[in-house]
Amino acid sequence: MTTTHNSQQPVLVLGGTGKTGRRVAARLRDRGLPVRIGSRSSEIPFDWEDPSTWGASLDGTRAVYISYYPDLAAPGAPEAVRSLADAALDRGVRRLVLLSGRGEVEAQRAEQAVFDSGADVTVVRCAWFMQNFSEDFLRDAVLSGEVVLPGGDAHEPWVDVDDIADVAVAALTEDGHVGELYELTSPQLYTLTDVVAELGRATASEVRYIPVSVDDYVAAAADQGVPEELVGHLTYLFSEVFGHNAYTADGVQRALGRPARDFATFARDAARSGAWETPVEATA
Ligand SMILES: NC(=O)c1ccc[n+]([C@@H]2O[C@H](COP(=O)([O-])OP(=O)(O)OC[C@H]3O[C@@H](n4cnc5c(N)ncnc54)[C@H](OP(=O)(O)O)[C@@H]3O)[C@@H](O)[C@H]2O)c1
Repeated sequence: MTTTHNSQQPVLVLGGTGKTGRRVAARLRDRGLPVRIGSRSSEIPFDWEDPSTWGASLDGTRAVYISYYPDLAAPGAPEAVRSLADAALDRGVRRLVLLSGRGEVEAQRAEQAVFDSGADVTVVRCAWFMQNFSEDFLRDAVLSGEVVLPGGDAHEPWVDVDDIADVAVAALTEDGHVGELYELTSPQLYTLTDVVAELGRATASEVRYIPVSVDDYVAAAADQGVPEELVGHLTYLFSEVFGHNAYTADGVQRALGRPARDFATFARDAARSGAWETPVEATA
């Protein structure tokens, strides 16, 4: 495909130090494209909670990868991402790629709000991330050998964040993706029993799935000092989202012309790259 731009203006990568954003940024840099990270800790700080920071981040950029924090399903998210889109358009920045989640009413409202802005929008609507097990809140569980979750025997087509980054970068840099809504999943569905089996194989250790009720999970999280807001979000995710989207989608194939990565490949590659080598204490 041909590139849409060839200017030296940077692409603004919001959440550019997070799981998806840092991969998007790395791929853009690999293509020789200038990148500006937008997060609270970046050189030009960007804070979703302080719109006065947005202009300086957007000024002079040519496209934006929008990873909202904490979650597009959070109250106020549709309004925030729409305001961001409007602020981008005010500065002549038309190309926007929005990271979204499947089966979340507020996230789907946020997608529509960004499409309605009139910008050149691509939405990447994603299943649950495989890298939650290697780089986020489930990593310690893998290391402890016990993944305690209120997931029952529900099926989820976990998606590899590397696929998300590949699709986002294609959408940010190539023609043919404007107006598309790419739904990204792995090629198959997995129960959590399937997932821990793959993680056990990859780490050559025993990893067990221990199903619990949502109430017990939430009570344990609260006991461990997880902030109230996050506990509320976990309740929502495991009651309303997890297992409610038990179907695969072809977004990776449509966007990139290749199949999505499966869980076994993710787990093997993550283990090879040392994802589970550092002990729990050292990553806290
Ligand atoms: N995890 C999943 O399974 C899943 C599935 C579907 C969709 N999603 C969506 O993915 C998004 C998260 O993306 P991710 O997993 O790539 O990120 P992440 O790994 O959770 O990292 C969060 C990023 O956001 C930045 N950040 C935190 N608070 C911020 C604030 N107030 N203002 C600006 N930036 C802030 C962080 O940098 P600083 O600390 O420097 O600010 C960091 O770069 C959410 O919208 C979520 O809904 C997640």
